[in-house]
Amino acid sequence: MPSIERVLAIETSCDDTSVAVVDHTGQVEAVVSANQDLAHAPFGGVVPEIASRNHTLTLLPLVEEALKKSQREWTQIGGVVVTNRPGLVGSLIVGLVTAKSIAQVRELPFLGINHLEGHLLAPFLKDSQYTPPPMEFPFVALTVSGGHTSLYRVSDFGAYEVLGSTLDDAAGEAFDKFGKMLGLKFPAGAQVDQLATGGKIDAFPLPRGMIKEENFLMSFSGLKASAQRLVEKMSEEEKQKRMADLCASFREAVVDVLLAKLDRAVTVTGLKHVVITGGVSANYRLRERGQIWSQQKKLQLAIPPLRYCTDNAAMIGLAGIKRLNKGERSPLTLGPSPHSWAEDFLSVGGR
Ligand code: KG4
Ligand code: ZN
Repeated sequence: MPSIERVLAIETSCDDTSVAVVDHTGQVEAVVSANQDLAHAPFGGVVPEIASRNHTLTLLPLVEEALKKSQREWTQIGGVVVTNRPGLVGSLIVGLVTAKSIAQVRELPFLGINHLEGHLLAPFLKDSQYTPPPMEFPFVALTVSGGHTSLYRVSDFGAYEVLGSTLDDAAGEAFDKFGKMLGLKFPAGAQVDQLATGGKIDAFPLPRGMIKEENFLMSFSGLKASAQRLVEKMSEEEKQKRMADLCASFREAVVDVLLAKLDRAVTVTGLKHVVITGGVSANYRLRERGQIWSQQKKLQLAIPPLRYCTDNAAMIGLAGIKRLNKGERSPLTLGPSPHSWAEDFLSVGGR
C-alpha cells in the first residue's frame, strides 16, 4: 500500500482555476474548475493581472467544493500538490500560497509540480465515466496547447526527454491568432475547428513550416503570416463566404505539421505507444486523423477526454502523488517560476 493514498491538487498556472482530489492509482475522485474565458475575451488574450485576480476569487471556494464532491474528509487527504512552474508568475503565486497555507495548517506533505509533467501523465487519469486504454512506458507524447507544443519520449513516471518543440508560436496560439484575424473571440481554437466543418482542406495553399526537416522542430509563425496576408486581402463579405474553407485549410496545415513530426518521433524511437494531449488535442481533425494514422501504423494511441486534455488539477494530482510516494517534498519556501527547471527533463533540444 502506498504511504499516501490521495492528494488535494491545485492548478492556477494560466487562466483556469482548478482543484482536484486524486488517488495513487490515478482515479479522479473530484475535479472542479473555473474558466476565465469571458474575462479575457475583450482583450484578445490572457491578461496576467486579471488572471491572478480571478484565481484569488475562485480558488478557496473550489477547494471546498472539490473536497465535498470527493466525499472525503480532510483527514483522508495525505498531501497537497500544486503547479509552481512554468506559467504566469502572478497566477502561480495564488495557487502556491493557498497550497502552502493548507499544507502548513493541516500538517500535510507539500510538493510543487511542473505543469507539463501533468499534461504528460493525463492519459493515465481515470474516473467513473472513463477508463484509459492500457498505456505502457516508454511512449511518445505530443503536448499541444495554447502555451506549449512539444514532443517527448516518456520512459517512466518522472523520466521525460524533450525531443523537440515549436520554435515560435504554440499550435493553440496560432489557432487563437488566426481566429482573431477572422474576428472570432479569444480563445478561438474550438470555434475555428467548428467553422471548418464542411470546408475544403486545400482551398487555400498555406505553408507547413519545417515539415520536411529531419528533426522534431516545428514552426507556426510562417503559417500565421501567410494566413494574415490572405485574410487581409479579402473583403468582409468574402471572408464570411469563405469562412469554412479558410478554417479547414488552416486547421489542415496545423494538423499536417503535428502528425508529420509525431510520425517521425515514432519512427526514430521505434515506440508503439503514443499520447496526444493538451487543449489542441480537442481538435476534431487532429483526433480523427490521429486515430486513422495510429491504426495504419498499428500503434496504441491515447488521447484523453477533453476534461483531462485542457488545463486541470487532476493531472497535477497524479504527477504529485507519484512523486510524494517516492519521498519527494518541497520546502514551504518554494517559489513560482515562469520556466521549467533544468532537472525536469533529461535533455532539451531538437534532433
Ligand atoms: O491546454 P489548454 O487548455 O491551455 C494551455 O495550457 O494553453 O489549451 C488551450 C488552447 C487554446 O489555444 C485553444 O484555442 C486551444 O487550446 N483549443 C483548440 C481546440 N480547443 C481548444 N484548438 C484547436 N481546436 C480545438 N478544438
Ligand atoms: Zn497546459
